[in-house]
Amino acid sequence: MIQTAVAPKNRKATAQPRSPESSSYRDLLARFHEVRNFSAKLSDNLAAEDCVVQSMPEVSPTKWHLAHTTWFFETFILKKWKTGYRDAVPEYAYLFNSYYNAAGAMHRRDLRGLISRPTVEQTRKYRASVNADIDDLITNADEKLFREIEPILILGIHHEQQHQELLVTDIKHVFAQNPLYPVFRESKIGNSRIDIARMEFTEFDEATIEIGHHGNDFCYDNELPLHRALVLPFGLANRLITNGEYLEFINDNGYARPEFWLSLGWQTVNEQNWRAPLYWTELDGEWWNFTLSGLRKVDPTEPVTHLSYFEADAYANWAGARLPTEFEWERAATKIDIEGNFVETEQFHPAPFSKTPQSAELAQMFGDVWEWTRSSYSPYPGYRAEPGALGEYNGKFMCNQYVLRGGSCATSRTHIRKTYRNFFQPDKRWQFTGIRLARDLS
Ligand SMILES: [Fe+2]
Repeated sequence: MIQTAVAPKNRKATAQPRSPESSSYRDLLARFHEVRNFSAKLSDNLAAEDCVVQSMPEVSPTKWHLAHTTWFFETFILKKWKTGYRDAVPEYAYLFNSYYNAAGAMHRRDLRGLISRPTVEQTRKYRASVNADIDDLITNADEKLFREIEPILILGIHHEQQHQELLVTDIKHVFAQNPLYPVFRESKIGNSRIDIARMEFTEFDEATIEIGHHGNDFCYDNELPLHRALVLPFGLANRLITNGEYLEFINDNGYARPEFWLSLGWQTVNEQNWRAPLYWTELDGEWWNFTLSGLRKVDPTEPVTHLSYFEADAYANWAGARLPTEFEWERAATKIDIEGNFVETEQFHPAPFSKTPQSAELAQMFGDVWEWTRSSYSPYPGYRAEPGALGEYNGKFMCNQYVLRGGSCATSRTHIRKTYRNFFQPDKRWQFTGIRLARDLS
């Protein structure tokens, strides 16, 4: 499930989410266009036919992402603040609302692939039109009005970045259905086999730490309130689990041994007939991996990805370890710079880690793959969802999902934070999700 954020309609009514990244309107408009243009760039190489396919209910067509992010700016900014604004096509409000009940009725999520109109070309015109209206509104806003709009504009920018990640993972799922194995981007994936750093556990003492976002820059409401949490002694693996290591689990019959699996996981494995990560296929006794650069042999040095929570948990049990809690992960991330293999590298695939003398003690914490934690996605103490449509952004999804941390090779570097809480149901595999092990220290 993609998360949304809360941005208050009236900043005085709430302390969350934070605004502003205190920029002038020119800086913020430049940022707006930069992010909007990146969505266009991601879809540049796609044919119109690619942009309308919905390969499963959770996947949205590229065209829908391009339109929905535009609807967000139109609904929560233009219709509220642009004097005399009239939507050119009122039905777009129904077609491109995702799940905001307070914003009106909406089209069914699982039927988005049946909508051939507006065309891709008309959707691009819709984007251009809303871009121009936002430009006009912000450019002509006085200081008071700009400060009112600013947090929602920032929220809309982050919202679009979330959908850029979904656009990438959704088109991967769409292309994976095609026996021609289409290529989204020619390969920037490295081919050199390298020596992977040995897995070691960095140890942390018991501590009471602050969890959640601090500072005045943007965050989603689910990263608040800042609060204290007791974290017992633990060890955290210095890197992600690789394909090679995961193959050992497969070859040890891990998918057929119920002792490693949660009951619901065991049921899912058998119902779905899972025998390997999503996008792996066995051809003539060898494992192949569908990537956004086409079909490739499984590289044992790359981080394993496209795993459900159930598989990550079963692997950890098999390995005699466990998944970290989100609080352990956040504590470990405190002193680590946010660097890694993000969408800006345009590799669209996780990269191997080779230890160098300059390597951090904990590597691959950011980028590459989202790391499953064993923490249920729950509200922090004191959390209250805001009233109104934007209050539906996060809070209503705090049920039956697990938290993931760190971002992936499809996440924007400017979107992720150390306190960022992504979340998905435990059986979902189409995001770039992987494993970092943890263990108790007695
Ligand atoms: Fe959305």
